[in-house]
Amino acid sequence: MACFTSVFILSRRFGRCAEVIMSSQYRSISAYQPPEFASNLAKTPSKRVKLATLPTPLHKWNLPGVPDDFQLYIKRDDLTGSFLSGNKIRKLEFLLADALDKGCGSVITCGSFQSNHCRATAVAAKELGLDCHLVLRSKNMEKENIKNPGNLLPSVLSGSQLYLIPLNSKYELDIRPRQEKLAKSIALTTGKPAYCIPVGGSNSTGVFGYIEAWNELISQEGFDKIDDIFVATGSGGTVAGLCIGNYLTGQKIKIHGISVSDDKYYFHSHVNEMLHELNITGTRSEDLIDIIDGHKGEGYGKSTSDDHSFLQKIASTTGIFCDHVYSGKAVRGMLAEMKTNPSRFQGKNVMFIHTGGAFGLYDGVIQSCLDDTFGKLAHTWENKDSDPELIT
Ligand SMILES: Cc1ncc(COP(=O)(O)O)c(C=O)c1O
Repeated sequence: MACFTSVFILSRRFGRCAEVIMSSQYRSISAYQPPEFASNLAKTPSKRVKLATLPTPLHKWNLPGVPDDFQLYIKRDDLTGSFLSGNKIRKLEFLLADALDKGCGSVITCGSFQSNHCRATAVAAKELGLDCHLVLRSKNMEKENIKNPGNLLPSVLSGSQLYLIPLNSKYELDIRPRQEKLAKSIALTTGKPAYCIPVGGSNSTGVFGYIEAWNELISQEGFDKIDDIFVATGSGGTVAGLCIGNYLTGQKIKIHGISVSDDKYYFHSHVNEMLHELNITGTRSEDLIDIIDGHKGEGYGKSTSDDHSFLQKIASTTGIFCDHVYSGKAVRGMLAEMKTNPSRFQGKNVMFIHTGGAFGLYDGVIQSCLDDTFGKLAHTWENKDSDPELIT
């Protein structure tokens, strides 16, 4: 009975979306209480919607190339789900709950053409009964046949509307104004507000995804051994949530963000803005995070055949898949730092947070790697009576 009463109350409050949510026990929206260590933060979200499969595993990682004196662990945030997977899901638990709480009928977000964040938002929105609009930076502004859809496949199959904008568009200057314009016209047409999510979901609401991840980590077996954490940094929200959790629980761990876009000045200023909004005083991003530049190669999203062979080596030796835009660059950067700059580490027990990105592997960029390897690994075996050919 209590369940039906709450369904009714929430349905009244959230309209169409609530009916969808409450028809599934799994995607229930609930009042949010932050962990004790974060209870004094300003701007605490009031609602959370369960999207991620949590807790994600934390285990040792036998990654090739780790110097003998280091022990490496991996936190599997690539396993927060399947179509709905990676680090963005944790942020979306708060952002989409906020959208529902505000009575929005749609969400608008933005990113690169192959954005993991956009794909995750597209899928999560549909699970919650929201319409989704994606503003995508695109090299080719024409609506051509997409041969290697990668993240676009889930975004398109789940019915998001896509807006292709020039590749060199800047968030504050070109993208945010477009999102706001779109929100106005959606509200006029549908009679319901649209909710704008910034690039990567990295704002003072989304950051609670990784404040909560910290809460998950501190009670997870094996975490008490960890000295250093490494993670890919693209829009800054993941590393921001981690460093806030670390700071508020005694700053025992050193957190390193490998920058895969922008640079440390950009990230520190963005994280400092979030600290300010949450009313965290007396410290700065520069004291809380070691942002490491110098490992993004030729730039965001650009990779070499050497990078692709590296990803293949990781997959073929450990069964873990890293992508060429985020986690691959972060792992490579971490290994390079272990070898050339060990004094950067606080200790020898290091945890890598795998933030997902598997759909990016299907964007066609590593096709030549597939072609080469397929030729070596594939055997034709037409006649069942003949003996198999084995590569030794
Ligand atoms: C797979 C993946 N890993 C890491 C990141 C970086 O996370 P953040 O944007 O929170 O810095 C992103 C998104 O930017 C991502 O899609």
